[in-house]
Amino acid sequence: MWTDGVAAIDYTHAFYPEMAPAHLAFALLLKGIAPPPTQGFTYAELGCGQGLTTNTLACLHPDARFQAVDVLPSHIANAQALADDAGHDNVQFFEETFAAFAGRGGADFDIIALHGVWSWVSAENRRILLDIISRRLKPGGAVFLSYNCLPGWAADMPVRHLLLERVAAEQGPLPQRIDRALDFMMRLSRQGGYFDHAPSAAALLESLRGKTDNYIAHEYLNRDWSPFYHADIAAQLPGLEFAASATLLDHLDGWRLSPQAAALVAESHGSACETLRDTLTYTRFRRDIFVREPRLLSESERRQHLGALRFGLTVPRHEVPESATSLTGDQMLPATLYAPLADALVEPKSLEQLVAQLPHGFDAVVEALVVLAGLGAVAPSLGVGDTERCHRFNGAVLARNRHSPHIRQLAAPALGTGVVVDVLDRLFLLAEREGADPAAFAWTVLAERGKRLRRDGQWLETVDDNLAEMTRLYGQFLRLRRPRLVALGMCA
Ligand SMILES: C[S@@+](CC[C@H](N)C(=O)[O-])C[C@H]1O[C@@H](n2cnc3c(N)ncnc32)[C@H](O)[C@@H]1O
Repeated sequence: MWTDGVAAIDYTHAFYPEMAPAHLAFALLLKGIAPPPTQGFTYAELGCGQGLTTNTLACLHPDARFQAVDVLPSHIANAQALADDAGHDNVQFFEETFAAFAGRGGADFDIIALHGVWSWVSAENRRILLDIISRRLKPGGAVFLSYNCLPGWAADMPVRHLLLERVAAEQGPLPQRIDRALDFMMRLSRQGGYFDHAPSAAALLESLRGKTDNYIAHEYLNRDWSPFYHADIAAQLPGLEFAASATLLDHLDGWRLSPQAAALVAESHGSACETLRDTLTYTRFRRDIFVREPRLLSESERRQHLGALRFGLTVPRHEVPESATSLTGDQMLPATLYAPLADALVEPKSLEQLVAQLPHGFDAVVEALVVLAGLGAVAPSLGVGDTERCHRFNGAVLARNRHSPHIRQLAAPALGTGVVVDVLDRLFLLAEREGADPAAFAWTVLAERGKRLRRDGQWLETVDDNLAEMTRLYGQFLRLRRPRLVALGMCA
């Protein structure tokens, strides 16, 4: 029974920006649908894993209340310890099954989020999740639901089946079994047969070699693993309507569909359109937002709500993409709009302020924000977070980086989201907090992890060379990256 095997290994730590209330609000407003309340809301995460998303959101939204549940004791212990160290008073973690959580009472939720859960639990657990949603989601409330979807997964489903069988046949600790099974699968794929007829399967296998054992265990070795057609899920959600995709680039048909493909989609209605889009774009993972009793906004209401959302760069200005490849071919991001917009976004501001500052008009600015947010360079936010609170949370996250490099994001109160910080920069920040010499500290941690630095393509052999390079890198951090982290409120 593979759930038992998977329980022997923790899931990865990650913050998922698509689950942020501001992101959901942006996606819903693009479709003209009223978002859940943006202040004082109640938020539940079902199957929260390590709980980093819930903890980060609880940090950024002190006036909201969060609950999160997961059955794995180590996940909840880690999540609770982080919440305790951060001093969170607005989050409750429950180490229990969905069935036990369903038996709890309490206030209903404005947002219920399930990321990476639906495709990885049994039909019985999905029934329980539907029951929770049906009883606990408020009218106007939103469900974020991600899942592996069809037909994108159809050709590659045997890879998961074969991998599962092979891991079960191996002996020893799970990570070793995974490594040996992957090795076997690579040899298998080179013999052709099915792999010759499903080239994406060989590519999937290749990509798995770069993933961690934790990821592979929880993504592929669960006893339960089912991709779904969007329409089947939409039909099951009790009294909810599909409102929007939280994958923002999905909102831009022009980027994803040729005119002929778009015309084919237009020949259908409702859920069928989504499956046609998935078919034409070879989508394998969906992030859907469903709403109970959605309220359609008038155009002026929609503009008012959108205008109040704030946007800012999640990456340094020079890393904002200047071109992007759409599914319909290369497409430049016109510099006349994107360059001044990116300049303006260095300091987060409301859409209303952006539109007032730029001459391009509301719709053009909104579309450019969808593109940049879809590419991960921009985040929407509901307002400015509490800097002191974020410093404390980030301190707790950084402290964990002493022993593990896995928590990569820090809370950015000015952006209202979590932002990835480079592994060495996290060690520099931790050293500064602890009053240690940043370069020496970062080198000590790196050396303990069996790693060295590289300069001009050459690995550095001696301690002195590594320390000298680390000192140079810390200087670079101080000049080039730290000021931005301070401006975003991520560190003092
Ligand atoms: C693939 S992981 C995703 C975790 C997290 N949402 C993320 O994306 O990082 C699925 C999670 O669901 C939890 N889970 C599975 N079955 C469950 C159940 N019956 N009750 C509670 N949690 C469950 C697992 O322990 C695991 O942490």
